[in-house]
Amino acid sequence: MLMLLILGVLLHGVSLSGQEEASPKADGIPGEPLFNYASIHLPQEHIPFFLHNNRHVATVCKKDSHCPYKKHLENLKFCWGYEKSCKPEFRFGYPLCTYVDMGWTDTLESAQDIFWKQADFGYAGERLEELHVLCQPEETNDSSLVCSRYLQYCRATNLYLDLRNIKRDHDRFKEDFFQSGEIGGHCTLDIRTLMSQGQRKSPLQSWFAELQSYTQLAFRPIEAAECDVVIEKPTYFMKLDAGVNMYHHFCDFINLYITQHVNNSFSTDVYIVMWDTDGRIRVTILARSTEYRKILNQNELVNALKTVSTLEVRIVDYKYKELGFLDQLRISHNTDIFIGMHGAGLTHLLFLPDWAAVFELYNCGDERCYLDLARLRGIHYITWRRQNKVFPQDKGHHPTLGEHPKFTNYSFDVEEFMYLVLQAADHVLQHPKWPFKKKRDEL
Ligand SMILES: *[C@@H]1O[C@H](CO)[C@@H](O)[C@H](O)[C@H]1NC(C)=O
Ligand SMILES: *[C@@H]1O[C@H](CO)[C@@H](O)[C@H](O)[C@H]1NC(C)=O
Ligand SMILES: *[C@@H]1O[C@H](CO)[C@@H](O)[C@H](O)[C@H]1NC(C)=O
Repeated sequence: MLMLLILGVLLHGVSLSGQEEASPKADGIPGEPLFNYASIHLPQEHIPFFLHNNRHVATVCKKDSHCPYKKHLENLKFCWGYEKSCKPEFRFGYPLCTYVDMGWTDTLESAQDIFWKQADFGYAGERLEELHVLCQPEETNDSSLVCSRYLQYCRATNLYLDLRNIKRDHDRFKEDFFQSGEIGGHCTLDIRTLMSQGQRKSPLQSWFAELQSYTQLAFRPIEAAECDVVIEKPTYFMKLDAGVNMYHHFCDFINLYITQHVNNSFSTDVYIVMWDTDGRIRVTILARSTEYRKILNQNELVNALKTVSTLEVRIVDYKYKELGFLDQLRISHNTDIFIGMHGAGLTHLLFLPDWAAVFELYNCGDERCYLDLARLRGIHYITWRRQNKVFPQDKGHHPTLGEHPKFTNYSFDVEEFMYLVLQAADHVLQHPKWPFKKKRDEL
């Protein structure tokens, strides 16, 4: 299946793949290299191909005594195959067929051509030929949008995204995610061409659903200070086919690789954003690595949670040596239902979002502690209710006080557990601040 990419660079400040750095200042002064060669990020044997397609880098390399690629400068005829300047005899490779599978095509030449265009660098060549400017920048700092046919590949600069009113639901790729004005740029939009590209509108075949509401803005988002966050690093948006097995996930990597070729940029100093509009409820279970208050049937509980498709489940152990404090906060803050045994880790409830629920799985008789903390934080609190459905391992062993409910491990009735979690989920869904709430028709 085809997975698509959009290249969004949200700021002009990004240097043009080294072109600026490459502007030859002087010849090889001992000291600074004239180009950041490490940013090319390709295996040695691919360097000649890169230099063929990036003559400005080759020119700089020739002058620069620091250039590690001098030995490749003699091989500049070699090419990937999709470049206009590429002679067939020098291309990276070309399929060789020895027989024709009738039904697909009838000559060896066309079989090879089909393979080349569908499964080799010929594919990148076709996308490059289709590139079309959909939003034309007119002045410095303007935005731009360039796409191949049906918006299968797009590249945007100074792309404006307004995520304040987004509506998510249980679709991975919600088709009306953006409304008019919520995605766009300051450039001259060719709306007719844009709207004519919808034939492949479907989640994994095109970005049409997302870009059909691309809007020509009357303001420059950055200069007009309309953005809370400006992302300067080159960014890939990817819709993943499925990360579940080797075949499907490899498709994603192949698509990413093709995109690098289409964009002629191989730096790995980029962001990759996995596009997903699914608003599932994020459940975090706080595991304990201490000797007491372990959840003995944690796996069983987690497996039960995983049967509910609207829940996204994560198990964490907040050991600061393994998970830095900032990462711990990041996880807590991105949690809708926080579940844990009575213990200091539950103080993380302070960092939950306003609509969250904390589920103190068992309070071990210490009823007020985290109930009060949750109340002070203003979030919903629940705890285990039925004594006959929680099963301590034994009576507990306090180091000096003898039997003590905080000093043993517990297992829990799965059905009762699920009942409580779904109640917490209900709370989240009903909360006025829950961001993915479906808007009701306002009548
Ligand atoms: C795509 O290419 C442009 C121009 O070379 C570059 O500035 C940009 O960083 C590249 N985008 C990504 C995501 O690598
Ligand atoms: C482009 O944007 C940068 C940063 O916002 C600003 O400093 C610069 O003056 C702008 N240039 C023009 C020509 O508007
Ligand atoms: C609780 O579980 C831990 C880890 O499995 C174990 O070391 C400890 O002895 C158990 N505690 C009791 C009271 O059985």
